[in-house]
Amino acid sequence: MRRAAALSVLSAFAFAVAASAAEDEPPPWAYPVNPPAAKPATPPSDTMPKRVPGSDVVLTLAEIRDLSRGVPDWHPGDHPPMPDVVAKGRAGGVLACGYCHLATGLGRPENASLAGLPVDYIVQQVRDFRDGKRKSSVAAMGPPANMVALSKISNDEEVRVAATYFASMKLTPWIRVVESDTVPKTRVTGSMLVADSDEREPIGTRIIEVPEDRARTELRDPRSGFVAYVPPGSIKKGEAYVKTGGGKSAACTICHGADLKGLGPIPALAGRSPSYIVRSLYDLKHGARAGAWSPLMKDAVAPLTIEDMVNIAAYASSRAP
Ligand code: HEC
Ligand code: HEC
Repeated sequence: MRRAAALSVLSAFAFAVAASAAEDEPPPWAYPVNPPAAKPATPPSDTMPKRVPGSDVVLTLAEIRDLSRGVPDWHPGDHPPMPDVVAKGRAGGVLACGYCHLATGLGRPENASLAGLPVDYIVQQVRDFRDGKRKSSVAAMGPPANMVALSKISNDEEVRVAATYFASMKLTPWIRVVESDTVPKTRVTGSMLVADSDEREPIGTRIIEVPEDRARTELRDPRSGFVAYVPPGSIKKGEAYVKTGGGKSAACTICHGADLKGLGPIPALAGRSPSYIVRSLYDLKHGARAGAWSPLMKDAVAPLTIEDMVNIAAYASSRAP
């Protein structure tokens, strides 16, 4: 009896330690890291011409995956003419911004949407990456490391031109946020979570963001978005936190706007990727992101638990951009 009680106290203690350690770890679902490649990457053997709905463009998988070729531009009518730095980049390692962030600036879960962000904000973030003040909490995650690398070789003029292009566009609805007890079982490929089967598992304190249509996402079709599963009740809890600061800090809306659509040079949060929002909050809290403007976020992120971040991101992403 005594022994059982002692054991249960011990296991409760072990659980608490595990939980607090987990609390300090970057959540793996927000920072998807590709598993080590079983064999060296070879160009795709699939040489079939590919198409996406509503487009006359025809491309092969090899062409789509070739970063040096620039952006696969399926729908040229969906965006203003792309400046060279966005469409093609520059030889020597300045990868085309539109390749990762898409021609429309809507972005993907492993990077960030840029459409509609203020020019000064975009310029400042690239400067922070360049100056070593912004990186990822998870060094093994490839895309942020690529972003850091290209920030160091792109010049001020290129960054300003790209910033002006992305700022001129509007963020449009791109991510469907769904509260759910269970989620598809996922694995990481291409630095994002994907579901291979109909198998499901409990959501826990996670956000699972996956392509609506994996084949179209692989073709980088900027008309095929994402679905983000979030825990039941998280949107409402997130709303309360954002509007009041949850009794722990100032309300987020003071700076990000009542509708989270941004205020002056402060970035919008509405309708943006929830995985990206959680990464940003975690990086800001843990100092991986410590740029010129980050001190303004210091008091807001200090008290946030992973659960708060999940709730906040669920709410922000579910708002109309
Ligand atoms: C190889 C893919 C890739 C390319 C190419 C790329 N980016 Fe990024 N970018 C990223 C990733 C990944 C992140 C998000 C990093 C993170 O999780 O914090 C990012 C983040 C950003 C952010 C921060 C957004 C925010 O809301 O704070 C800006 C601004 C940005 N990129 C601008 C650019 C510009 C301008 C170019 C072209 C000169 C460019 N990027 C090219 C991958 C890329
Ligand atoms: C005092 C003003 C202020 C308050 C209050 C504030 N923010 Fe921010 N927020 C900023 C600024 C400024 C930035 C840009 C930080 C940087 O450049 O590193 C930012 C950045 C962010 C980002 C990253 C956006 C991106 O595009 O990368 C997120 C997410 C965010 N804030 C969420 C919140 C949440 C959630 C709260 C409330 C708990 C909050 N903020 C409260 C000013 C504020």
